[in-house]
Amino acid sequence: MAAGLAGKDIISINDFSNPEIERVFDVADLMLKSPRKASSLLKGKLMAAMFFEPSTRTRFSFEASMHRLGGSVMDFANTESTSVAKGENLADTIRIIDSYADVIVIRHKYEGAARLAAEFASHPVINAGDGSGQHPTQTLLDLYTIKKEKGAIKGLNIGLVGDLKYGRTVHSLAYALSRLGARIYLVAPEMLQMPSYILSDISNGSIASKTDKLEDVIGDLDVIYMTRVQKERFGDLNEYAKVSRAYTITKDTMSKAQKGAILMHPLPRIGEIKPEVDRMENAKYFKQAANGIPIRMALLSMVMGAIR
Ligand code: NCD
Repeated sequence: MAAGLAGKDIISINDFSNPEIERVFDVADLMLKSPRKASSLLKGKLMAAMFFEPSTRTRFSFEASMHRLGGSVMDFANTESTSVAKGENLADTIRIIDSYADVIVIRHKYEGAARLAAEFASHPVINAGDGSGQHPTQTLLDLYTIKKEKGAIKGLNIGLVGDLKYGRTVHSLAYALSRLGARIYLVAPEMLQMPSYILSDISNGSIASKTDKLEDVIGDLDVIYMTRVQKERFGDLNEYAKVSRAYTITKDTMSKAQKGAILMHPLPRIGEIKPEVDRMENAKYFKQAANGIPIRMALLSMVMGAIR
């Protein structure tokens, strides 16, 4: 069996071995099957949610997961209400929160912030998104969704579409898909293509195609993973304006996809998928967001050693 995650930080998807990823999925299934048993697993434990960047799904699903496990949560509504606004540095803030909490979930605009936090915390730190770096827990729920919907990940043709340069969800996902034997189609305007430091890390054989034209590859795809252009990462909003509407999925776009292809998006969507698509059988983004609960329940109980 996979080595346990007890006491471990979750900073990068590469912190997980493939068997550990499978184990998270098994524990997530258990959470769905036995909610009553799960409901006291983390009784007496306290999670600190430190969100220095906006969040809806990630933060609420972490908080809901902790509550569903019988634990409690503390957070700040915004950084303006903490001493960060007085200029306190991240290391000091983390040291203090670490002395109050059993686990720290952090989202920050700087790449590497979660890794830094983990150096100053004795309790597990979970990266809920670090700038344009990684978003490993999103990747776990994305993989879980693909596996549930398509049965397996190995051998699938998966299109990552939109902002592959700044999008942290697709950074973590690309690493995982490559390791799990999927074929990756990179679909982005040239200026938003996948960074070369990631491409050089992942196996050459995993990249099936690199293009800016979704229509050229959509018929090959088992999974279409849309992303939002990350406006907040652009230094120049004129540059953002050039690519902000690069891809829009409509019913007509979906008519060119395979019948059984699934359409995913980490959300929020800012026009990348028209609401007319929401009721199509292919649309899985709301289910995907809901899968955040069993996955984050599994992760919290595993890093705190309640389940191996
Ligand atoms: C993503 C993020 O924050 O990276 N959202 C999420 O966690 N579901 C995607 C995004 O903001 O575009």
